[in-house]
Amino acid sequence: MRYQATITLLASLSLGALAQTQIGQTCVSSDVCYKLNIPEATAQSGSGDIYLSLSAPTTYTWVGLGIGSSMTNSDMFIMYTDGNGNVTLSPRYSSGESQPQYDGDLDVELLSGSGVANSVMTANFRCGKCARSGSTSFSSSSGQWVHGRKSGAALDSTDVKARISQHDAADSFTWSYSNAVGGSSTNPFMATDTVVSGTTPVSSGSDDTSMRSNIILVHGIFASLAFIVFFPIGAIIIRLGKFNNNVMIHVSTQIFSWLLFIAASGLGLYYGITGDEMNEAHPIIGIVLIAMMFIQPIAGWLHHRKFLRTGQRSAISYGHIWTGRTAIILGMINGGLGLELAGTETRYVIAYSVVAGVIGLAYLVAIVYGEIARSRRTSVAGSQHEKIHPSPERSPVSA
Ligand code: HEM
Ligand SMILES: *[C@@H]1O[C@H](CO)[C@@H](O)[C@H](O)[C@H]1NC(C)=O
Repeated sequence: MRYQATITLLASLSLGALAQTQIGQTCVSSDVCYKLNIPEATAQSGSGDIYLSLSAPTTYTWVGLGIGSSMTNSDMFIMYTDGNGNVTLSPRYSSGESQPQYDGDLDVELLSGSGVANSVMTANFRCGKCARSGSTSFSSSSGQWVHGRKSGAALDSTDVKARISQHDAADSFTWSYSNAVGGSSTNPFMATDTVVSGTTPVSSGSDDTSMRSNIILVHGIFASLAFIVFFPIGAIIIRLGKFNNNVMIHVSTQIFSWLLFIAASGLGLYYGITGDEMNEAHPIIGIVLIAMMFIQPIAGWLHHRKFLRTGQRSAISYGHIWTGRTAIILGMINGGLGLELAGTETRYVIAYSVVAGVIGLAYLVAIVYGEIARSRRTSVAGSQHEKIHPSPERSPVSA
């Protein structure tokens, strides 16, 4: 027995000495696999060229691989179909948990063997600066990596900066380098002397990710409804209302919008704080909006009470009016920043922009029209701009 074991050991040592092209494979699902080859020279110096291969069915919009234990400070390689029978390999840098941005400094070169065949896309490439971040050393025995993928229609884009939306599956894994070291081929995946070894890790964490993406989806829908639909409509009603109950309709619409906004804010804060993503423009403007909107209902009520007594705008009226106007416009813009941060699909960004554009314009027209009509009235008969609903003691003033 001992003799046999020694023979086996000697045999494997001599195989290593032949310097075959070693490929370490990691399959993160039955059909999504990543391969790595570290040439002998790179393993000795710790940096230099390495070779990577990504392969996955075209039922994924994109598939990506990143160096490091999380999305923070990760050099990433994202693959999608280019629409011409080949793939686009997009080298990117990810600073945190948001869309990784194209990074031309990463020295990557797509190799032959890449392409789309039998509904499987493959990117074989050389990476020259893969150890640049110091997040991994190719002379170590292993390293931390992340992977992610998004199911859906083929992206079919040759643009390395194409907008990609958030993964529906992502995780980190440890890649053993020891069985990936060997050889000096300049296209290891096409070499004939390859030895492929590796494991299929059990992936986890995807449930949590989908829970979080639901939270942020509801956040986006509620906040968009509040800022591009209901807040502006409530504001237009008070400006143009020529019917008896327009104050009441304004109040109910704005309370409804306000509740949507508060719910959206809660979800956004929860998501941003637990995910440590609060230092972006979108969440910062969001906090400013919470501060602005917090006092709006009270300011509106105080204004209304005073207006009923004096029939004139007071300081609190201007506060309520201008805080509201600024917040609505800022909220519309902040929604766009949020979509950008989430890497939302272009068609949703277009839908958002169209609705925001149309309603935003209608609102601006209503403000201008309403103020002109109001100043005409005030020059005739005092400064009545708010339509007061009829009450027995007070006869309604005309709008
Ligand atoms: C538009 C592009 C992307 C967006 C918006 C995005 C956003 C996010 C967010 C919000 C999380 C936190 C999820 C959570 O905490 O559960 C996350 C986690 C993660 N992302 Fe991304 N990401 C993008 C692209 C990528 C890419 C290209 C990769 C890999 C190459 C990747 C790898 C990961 C990993 C490994 C995690 C941790 C998953 C886990 O906790 O199990 N992401 N991403
Ligand atoms: C895809 O592009 C790479 C790099 O230009 C090339 O080597 C490879 O042959 C192409 N694949 C196909 C199927 O055309």
